Amino acid sequence: MKEACIIFIFPGRELGVPMKILIILVVVLTMSTKKAKGATRAFFVFGDSLVDSGNNNYLPTTARADSPPYGIDYPSHRPTGRFSNGFNLPDLISQHIGSEPTLPYLSPQLTGQKLLVGANFASAGIGILNDTGVQFVGILRMFQQFGLFEQYQGRLREEVGAEEAKRIVNGALVLMTLGGNDFVNNYFLTPVSARSLQFTIPQFSRYLITQYRNILMRLYELGARRVLVTGTGPMGCVPSQLATRSRNGECVAELQQAAQIFNPLLVQMTREINSQVGSDVFVAVNAFQMNMNFITAPQRFGFVTSKIACCGQGRFNGVGLCTSLSNLCPNRDVYAFWDPFHPSQRALGFIVRDIFSGTSDIMTPMNLSTIMAIDSNMY
Ligand SMILES: *[C@@H]1O[C@H](CO)[C@@H](O)[C@H](O)[C@H]1NC(C)=O
Ligand SMILES: *[C@@H]1O[C@H](CO)[C@@H](O)[C@H](O)[C@H]1NC(C)=O
Repeated sequence: MKEACIIFIFPGRELGVPMKILIILVVVLTMSTKKAKGATRAFFVFGDSLVDSGNNNYLPTTARADSPPYGIDYPSHRPTGRFSNGFNLPDLISQHIGSEPTLPYLSPQLTGQKLLVGANFASAGIGILNDTGVQFVGILRMFQQFGLFEQYQGRLREEVGAEEAKRIVNGALVLMTLGGNDFVNNYFLTPVSARSLQFTIPQFSRYLITQYRNILMRLYELGARRVLVTGTGPMGCVPSQLATRSRNGECVAELQQAAQIFNPLLVQMTREINSQVGSDVFVAVNAFQMNMNFITAPQRFGFVTSKIACCGQGRFNGVGLCTSLSNLCPNRDVYAFWDPFHPSQRALGFIVRDIFSGTSDIMTPMNLSTIMAIDSNMY
């Protein structure tokens, strides 16, 4: 403590002019290096387990992917907190835009220059609503993820100055993945839930959309200017639902219908807020269709099945969670689903391909290649 004080006070009082010039030069040089390093676009990630890269490892929650065989195909072959056998959706997007992977915001490694790459605030188990995922206890709900995003921006300003920090945030690509848990881990969690007594599925979907709109507008206020917003996947087709609610492995109609009510409302809402803010800030990603492609024709994508999870137990390997005691398939690349809820790394690759080059019916109003081309002139 004492030493720090001495160093701090001493130069300010005693500096001669040449020394001052030198210091200014050093500062200028450091600033320009920082700018050059930050030249690749920052990437921010918010949402649930589909995009959590390890925040829950640092939280008191049961929603975690920090033990084997999670991460078995990751370069380290170790669990990282990603709900995947290898890379997850944000990793694959980072790779495509030529950035290093964004660290979980709670990781102690996220300091200094690493802040310029962006940050991942996602937390497995959360939803649009605060009462979604209560069973998982200490997870980061959306308002908390945004609180941390504000804290991040303070740290970024300290690192690069206010003007550059604003440029980085405004110029960033943002991914927001939410909504599945509001159905699976809330409305449909128990045969009768508080939300299912309160709302029909169309009413609940409209309620979710009004809350989601507030979330996206808050994200805009916080400086986001290019946001990929994924709709819910085909929730009725995941091995977990096949195991518990399907007779012969057909997708569960009630959940599929819920997704097909919610997703078009989401597209419409993103259109409305884009016209409100006067720019195509929000891009709706039709994750439902992207998943259905390989779920309905797994062989065409080189999968032997889209019904049985690689890691799990019971019917369709869809009962309970993937743990070290579960059945584990030898080749993860031939399974569309890694665990009872999450696609395999290879399946995610097909989703990312569609995010990049999909037509405007699945990437509305435009795909990520178009976004990258437009934005390269802007920031
Ligand atoms: C969730 O809780 C926070 C903090 O109490 C509140 O600001 C926010 O409006 C709530 N969100 C919803 C969707 O109810
Ligand atoms: C999407 O991306 C591809 C490039 O991969 C481009 O040729 C195509 O026109 C884009 N489609 C739309 C609808 O933006």
